[in-house]
Parts: sequence; C-alpha cells; structure tokens
Amino acid sequence: MSRTTLQEYATLFRLDGRTALVIGAGSGIGEASAVALAAFGARVVCADLNAEAAARVAGAICAQGGSAESATVDIRSAVSIAAMLQRVPPPDVLVSTPSINVRKPLLQVSEEEFDRVVGLNLRGTFLLVQAVARGMAERGRGSIIVFSSIRSEVVEPGQGVYAATKAGVRQLCRALASELGERGVRVNLIAPGIVETPLTAPIRSHPEWSRAYAEKSILHRWAHPSEIASMVVYLASDASSYVTGALFYVDGGWTAHDGRYTPPL
Ligand SMILES: NC(=O)c1ccc[n+]([C@@H]2O[C@H](COP(=O)([O-])OP(=O)(O)OC[C@H]3O[C@@H](n4cnc5c(N)ncnc54)[C@H](O)[C@@H]3O)[C@@H](O)[C@H]2O)c1
Repeated sequence: MSRTTLQEYATLFRLDGRTALVIGAGSGIGEASAVALAAFGARVVCADLNAEAAARVAGAICAQGGSAESATVDIRSAVSIAAMLQRVPPPDVLVSTPSINVRKPLLQVSEEEFDRVVGLNLRGTFLLVQAVARGMAERGRGSIIVFSSIRSEVVEPGQGVYAATKAGVRQLCRALASELGERGVRVNLIAPGIVETPLTAPIRSHPEWSRAYAEKSILHRWAHPSEIASMVVYLASDASSYVTGALFYVDGGWTAHDGRYTPPL
C-alpha cells in the first residue's frame, strides 16, 4: 500500500468500482453517508426499513449523476438480512446506522423498552455485521463502519440502555476487527456527538435542552449529518487502509473538555 506520487495521494479517497451498502440510508446520518459515498464514485445500495425513504434517497443520488439503488431490510431479522443480501451486489463497504433511544430513568425502563432498544441497537447490529462480514471474509476484502455514540463513553440521566448498547457495539466491533484483520476486512466505529437528525428532533424541540447541548461542545453547535458522512468516506476508502478496530469521535470536542466552567485566565 505504499504511495509516493501526487496522483496516488489524490485518488486515495475515490471509491470507483466499489459497492457500498448503507443501512438506515433513508434518514439522517445514513442518508448523508449514502450521498457522500456516491459522490466519491461508489455504487450505493440505500437500504432501510422504510422502503419509501430508501427509494427517495437512491432516486436523489441518481438524479445528480451518481449510482444508487434501494433495498428494504429489517435488521432485527436474520431472514430479512439474508434476503436483502441475495438481491444486492456483494458489498465492499457496509455502513450500519439504525438505532433507537428511549430516554427514561433506568428505574422506569420496562422490560419491553429494554428489549426494543437492545433488540435493534445491539442484536440487530450484530445480525447485520455478522451476515455481511461472512461474505467479505470469503472475498478477502471489506470495510465495515458501525455507528456508536459519545454515549459509549460519557452518559447523562435517561441514556442508560442506549449507552449500554453503544458501548456494546464498540466492543463487538473491536472483537470482529481482531478476528477479521488477517482476512482483509477492516472494522471501525464512529461516535458522533449531537447531530441534527430525526433521532434528536425531540431534544431540538426543547429550546433549553437544545441550547445546553450546543454549548457543551467546544464548537458550541450541533453538527450537520454531512459532517459525519465525511468520516464515513475516509473509513470506506483506501485512505484508511491501516485503520481497524478504531473508534472515531466526531463530536465537536464534546468528550475532550469538561465544559462546566471556563476559569478566568
Ligand atoms: N443524531 C445524533 O445526534 C447521533 C448522536 C450519536 C450517535 N448517533 C448514532 O448515529 C446513527 C444514525 O443516527 P441518525 O440520527 O441518523 O438516526 P435516524 O433515526 O435519523 O435514522 C435511522 C434510520 O434507520 C432506519 N431503521 C430503523 N430501524 C430499522 C431496522 N430495523 N432495519 C433497517 N433500518 C432501520 C430508520 O428508518 C431510519 O431511516 C445511530 O446509530 C445513532 O445512535 C446519532
């Protein structure tokens, strides 16, 4: 993988000839990731539980000259994942985004709510990466990108179950990276801070909460999904050829500084 010429560096991020399977492509960070990957030349499969949303995003990419198609999948079901993989081209890149959050004190979380959050965020992610990684390992190449969160590291009241799943996928993917490195498959995680998507709409509809979150980060603002998608492109491409088992914070500095008080200096 040695690079010496300007041309070799200039094409490092290109994804021409690669197929990227983006799960959760119908909304938020998944949608932005699908568009960004297509912009760098990938053929993108936009997959989502919401078939209409997936088709809308694939259509928008094609309308701008990119290459995309859509697929429907429910990652809570191994049968649904297998059916999707039979219908789409073998992916060189997998991006896994689907997750839900139930914001409640742990003492009030019901068994059903616990199972629902763990069932999608941890179990569903496991079923998906296992099925896709098997094919990648057989083909001897691939890049898997899974969404964790700053909540895998720092918590606040009401985030217990979500945070546990985000820490869970972190360790799951590190183990997968260590098992598949010698078979040519890289596995990495992205931990966003606060991003303007439907997932966080309930927070942004609450002015005090929304402002407090913005002020917590070093950059004092929320992120746009496109600012997370650029990390996806990096991890999908040969620019990250020596990167595996890593977690990247794209959090505007949220986890770097304490933020409670700026002393007079
Ligand atoms: N938005 C943020 O501020 C933020 C912060 C930290 C981490 N994250 C993480 O980033 C990822 C993406 O978040 P987002 O804000 O873009 O979410 P989002 O809710 O906007 O999008 C999630 C997409 O997943 C799809 N989906 C849901 N269940 C599915 C299933 N069973 N099978 C297939 N698709 C399914 C939804 O239809 C939706 O299109 C999540 O893992 C989330 O935990 C987001």
